[in-house]
Amino acid sequence: MPNLSQTSPVTVPALVSAKGSEKIAMMTAYDAPSAALLDEAGMDVLLVGDSIEMAVYGQPNTLSATMDSMLRHARAVSGAARRALVVGDMPFLSYQADAKDAVVNAGRFLTEGGCAAVKVEGGRRVLASVEAILSADIPVMGHVGLTPQSFHKFGGFKVQGRQANAAREILEDAVALAQAGCFALVLECVPRSLASEITETVPVPTIGIGAGPSCDGQVLVFHDVMGWNRQFQPKFVRRYADLSTTIADAARHFARDVKDGSFPNEQESFSEAPTPALRRVY
Ligand code: KIV
Repeated sequence: MPNLSQTSPVTVPALVSAKGSEKIAMMTAYDAPSAALLDEAGMDVLLVGDSIEMAVYGQPNTLSATMDSMLRHARAVSGAARRALVVGDMPFLSYQADAKDAVVNAGRFLTEGGCAAVKVEGGRRVLASVEAILSADIPVMGHVGLTPQSFHKFGGFKVQGRQANAAREILEDAVALAQAGCFALVLECVPRSLASEITETVPVPTIGIGAGPSCDGQVLVFHDVMGWNRQFQPKFVRRYADLSTTIADAARHFARDVKDGSFPNEQESFSEAPTPALRRVY
């Protein structure tokens, strides 16, 4: 199999084969223009994450995500991605209550959302749904540790698996998901020693977020990486850009130019003489 970075489009088997030879780069994407940029930049996986509820819709947690909203964003992302594997994040209550519903909802991410796989939070407690989805030949990415849809049970967004018992439960969840046939596992906010043990134990790639450097890949939320959100800067995020400053500066300049009359100027307005056809007509 060629290197993952030379594989286009990225497939589920290519990702699995990357374990132990090449790290996997994954980022959330919620819309077409950013998905196209991330894809061109070499992201292996684009996750249409239910974190959209917090990052884009300003909600306090991810519980408000719905199938319809997630599918709409999934369609935008998969329509723009040329190389990256697009994974749809199954929203709260789309898979927990009933395995049959889980298959139908997972299938919608492929048929309507254009995704290649889905992600499901939780370990053995959602195994029946995971197995049902897999038996419909829909690839599943598992997610253990801090599973944000369990926000109320955890009492907030807290590191999981610091005590020996809790660590063992997470390890056993990860093993059960891998044995069921999940092609990769997200490990969120667990101690790096536990992430390392899981990574050595399971035969599929682990993708960490707040789980240290031993994982087979890393994922972060787009808005956190790009510095779009000034309020949220958790310890595990590395900020690679400062979009909030760029956007605020641009907005201030636009408002100033409008108020002092310097926008629009002659070149930015139409004369009576015929002009070449417009690319966009409002
Ligand atoms: O929704 C999301 O963005 C996620 C990542 C944090 C893995 O699940």
